This record gives sequence, structure tokens and C-alpha cells, in this order.
Amino acid sequence: MPPTSPGPDQEQGSSERPEQGLDPGPTGLPFPVRPRRPGDPEPDLELYHLAHRALLREAGELADLGRKLAEEGIPYTTGQARTLAVFARVFVGDLRRHHRTEDEIGWPLLAASAPDCPDLTPLTWEHAQAAPVIDALWSAVGRLVDDPDSTSARDDLADNAHRLSQMLETHIAEEERVAFPAIRAHVSAENFNQWDKLSDRDLPLRDLWVLVPSTVRSVDPADLGRITAKAPRLYRVALRLFRGHYNRRHRLVFG
Ligand SMILES: [Fe+2]
Repeated sequence: MPPTSPGPDQEQGSSERPEQGLDPGPTGLPFPVRPRRPGDPEPDLELYHLAHRALLREAGELADLGRKLAEEGIPYTTGQARTLAVFARVFVGDLRRHHRTEDEIGWPLLAASAPDCPDLTPLTWEHAQAAPVIDALWSAVGRLVDDPDSTSARDDLADNAHRLSQMLETHIAEEERVAFPAIRAHVSAENFNQWDKLSDRDLPLRDLWVLVPSTVRSVDPADLGRITAKAPRLYRVALRLFRGHYNRRHRLVFG
């Protein structure tokens, strides 16, 4: 649980680095860079875009819950706080992993692929700005588990979740405006898929019951089959098995 756990960041730790045994090329990336050539298929960014939508929605839900706890003083039980801690752990771990993979794999790949690569420094800088806010949100959830009536825990959750939600809104919009067109134009589908695989490799299996249903939560039912067909089979199985459980737990936590 949050008060004693080292947290999702440390859970991933150095295993987010390129795998041992892979020979980094001159770019430092754990695979050779082969930029997209004219006429090559574009990388498919639909799941990347969907991951962004899910992060924004999850941050917004935490901000809404924080506001209700801090401003409306809604009752909240220890059981609800414990389940909230699971949802928050998955969200925080996913967001940290997402930022780290972009900084360590995605942006170096884009820089090595695009002849006139846009300046990605502000995006990495914003990841660093978000890090302490994510830490503070995680800490507030831990204190809420210890005491669901704690005014300071409720206030800190509200403040940091609201702040993070706002940061992500502008950051992700800018990321998709600046980086996405350059990725489509210059990163090969093969390299993009290698980046995508690396971003998933440290995903704890125990988190799939939250992560998969949450990622597709806002997908139009008419598009669900087409979109999930792009995901690994394990994720489709997780969605089928855990969606109902996730929905019940989600209602318990967020109302
Ligand atoms: Fe991103």
C-alpha cells in the first residue's frame, strides 16, 4: 500500500532500461534505427493516442474525487481508500512508465529518424515537472488509506490530482501536436513497434485487470473489436475476464 510501498516508480526501477544482451547501436537505442522511407507504411498511433486519452481521463477522475473529498466532505471508507490505492498505483505506474519510455526510447528514436526533428526538450522538461506532482498525489493516497477522514490527505489529493490533470491536458495536447506528425512522417513502423513493445515489457501482470479495461473505457463500442485486435492477445483475455470486476471496483472508488 502507498505508505510503505516503494511505489510503482521503484517497482520498475532499472528494468525500464534497455534489455541486457541487446546491442545498443550508435544512438544508444536497443535496436537499429531505420527511418521511414517515402512510400513505407506509416506507424499506427491509434493505441498511443488511446493511451493518452486514458491517462487524461484517469487524472480527471482522481481530480474529481479529490474535489468531492476536500470540498464536499463526502464520506469515504477505509475499504474505498484501499481500492483507490490500487487504482492510483496502476495509474501512477503507467504514467511514470509512459514518460520514461518516451524520454529514453521514443524521443531518441524520433531524433535519430527525423532529419528536422522538432525540439522535444520541452516535452521532457514537462515530464520532469510532473514527477513531483505524481509523487505528491501518490503520497496523499497513502495518507488517505491510513485515515480516510484526514483533511490534509484529502486536500493534498485534491490539489495534486487537479494540478496533474491540468498539466497533462496541455502536455499531451502539445505532444500530439509536435511529436505525432514527425513520428508518422519519419519513424518506421518497425521501429515504432519496437518502441511500443519496450514500453509494455515491464507492465506488471497483476495490474492488467485495471489497466486494460481502463484504457478502453472511453472507446466507442462499435470500435472496440477493431481496436482491441491491435493489442496483444493477453490484453484481450484480460478485458474479457476482468471488465466486470473492474467496473464494480471503479464504482466503489469513484462513485
Ligand atoms: Fe505521451
